[in-house]
Formats: sequence, structure tokens, C-alpha cells
Amino acid sequence: MDYRAFVEEQIAEIKRSVGDGLAINALSGGVDSSVVTVLGHRSLGNRLKTVFIENGLMRKDEPQRVVKLFAEMGIPVELVDARKEFLNALRGLTDPEEKRNAITKTFYSTVFGRLVRETGAKFLLHGTILTDIEETVAGIKRQHNILAQIGIDPEKEYGYQVLEPLKTLRKDGVREVAKVLGLPPEITKRIPFPGPALATRIVGEVTEERLATVREATAIVEEELGKTRAFQYMAVLLNDRATGIQEGRREFGQIVVVRCIDSVDARTATPVKIPWKKLFRICERITSIRGVNRCLYDLTPKPPATIEYI
Ligand code: XMP
Repeated sequence: MDYRAFVEEQIAEIKRSVGDGLAINALSGGVDSSVVTVLGHRSLGNRLKTVFIENGLMRKDEPQRVVKLFAEMGIPVELVDARKEFLNALRGLTDPEEKRNAITKTFYSTVFGRLVRETGAKFLLHGTILTDIEETVAGIKRQHNILAQIGIDPEKEYGYQVLEPLKTLRKDGVREVAKVLGLPPEITKRIPFPGPALATRIVGEVTEERLATVREATAIVEEELGKTRAFQYMAVLLNDRATGIQEGRREFGQIVVVRCIDSVDARTATPVKIPWKKLFRICERITSIRGVNRCLYDLTPKPPATIEYI
């Protein structure tokens, strides 16, 4: 595939669709939304408003890091604090689909609804990729960014149209486009991170306290496995508990799963053989997080497992 031609086509298409109107997009710092942000800016300049929605589900220091990185590329990104809205919507929910639904609704309806009203934008640029659509259609997973499947017509409900310039590409293709656009390796090589963020790595209720635990564990896993060149690696907080010993006392503590997989396009995945020494070190660091007394390594390929836990 000629990715340079792809870039030119998409820029022309965005210009044609938006005309002299305004567009908005949410940047998460992942390769998909980063590519959309750059394509959008090349097409529309300051008629594209890019926001980073701080949903409270992000990794350590992520919002500030992403905003700074894009500022260095000359693309202004506004940080929108929506932590309360997302946490309120997730309160009490334990069912994976209900959790995803709550995040989708909060994102599109509450937060974007407000931003669209405030800015007068009529178009939302979104980084949906082919795999998201295929898996949603196949019923494997309801990706949080697929609206039609949950019966939302954005134009009717919120008054904006959704443009999806990457919907014919898979992850490997998006990375090629990112290179053509001159995005830094920090972004082109970044491991995938889902839209619903750390909520996909918490089994059971998402609370601030549980987020803090999984955020800390994620930082450890990313630091320790950053050099493996694996497709994706993560920490997951289970809903179960197990007995352990903490400061000489029995404690009914939390369980964290470490997952590290290889994949080309996220449709299938195989676990990575991590040296014992590395695994022990990760285990030692994760079980030093307050309240966590067990750390497990997930050996399950996809299928039968999915990559994320919800
Ligand atoms: P699963 O868990 O379905 O994940 O095997 C496949 C790939 O997609 C990512 N993922 C998502 N990405 N929105 C996204 O943008 C989502 O709702 C979502 N759910 C999963 C996941 O991290 C993996 O790379």
C-alpha cells in the first residue's frame, strides 16, 4: 500500500467533508488518535480543536506528557478535566459491557456533547481502525468508539458527524502512516492502549483507589517490559482476593495479573516468554504496592482470551 497517497487522500477527504466548518477531536496519545490529530491539523489547521479528555482512567502522568509532546510539534491540545463525570458514571458497575457503555455514553454524550455545544463544531474526527469495526461486527467486543452498534446516531443525537479516516487500516498500517507523517518514535512505537483506558484492566468496580493500584502496577510493568518490543504489556487488577502475609500478618489482599503478548494486528495474540528473573522482579515490585500480595502471569493466547480483561 502507498501510505503517502493514503495521507494525501485522507487530507483531501477531511477538507471536502468539513468544508469551512469546525471540527473537534480527542487525542489520547495512542498511535491512532495521534495520527488523526496530525491528519486533521494538516487538513484544517486551527479549524480543528484537539482536546485531551482526562477521564481519570489514564496512566501515570499521561495527560501532561501527551499535551507537552504535541505542543512541541506545534499542535495545541486542550486538557479537559472530566474525571468526576467518568468516575460517577462508573460507580457501582461491575459488568464489563455496562462499564464500557458508561464510558462510551459519558465520552460522547456528556463530555463531547458539552464541547460540541461550546465550540460549535459539526464534525468529530475519530481514530477508529478496521480491527475495531470487524471485532464489533463479529460480536467479539463492543469497542467503545463504535457508536452505531449501541444505537447511537451522533448526528441525530448530538448534532455532529463522525469522520473516521483510519477505518480501512489495521494497527500496522496506522504505524506506517504515522511514520509518513513524521511522528516521533515515542508515538509510532507506542504500545496500544484502549480508549476505556485502565477501566479495561480492572475486573469489578472501578474506584479511585482501585485505579491507583492498577496505575502503579502498570507503571512498573511498562518500565520493566519496555525493552521487550512485545506488542502489548499490561497489569490487571482482579476482583478476587487471596490470603497473603503483610508485615507478619495474614492479609486478604489484592491480585494483580501481568500480561505480555505478541501480535501483529491484535486479532490474535500469543504470550511472550519472559525470563524468570524478569518475572520475579516484576512480581517483587508489584507485591510491594500497598494491599497487593499476589502477582500472576497470564499465559493465555487470543483466542480464547481477549487481550484486555473487560
Ligand atoms: P481485545 O481485548 O479485544 O483487544 O483483544 C484488542 C486490541 O484492542 C485494544 N482495545 C481497544 N482499543 N478502544 C480501543 O481504542 C477499545 O474499546 C478497546 N478495547 C480493546 C486492546 O488494547 C488491544 O490492543
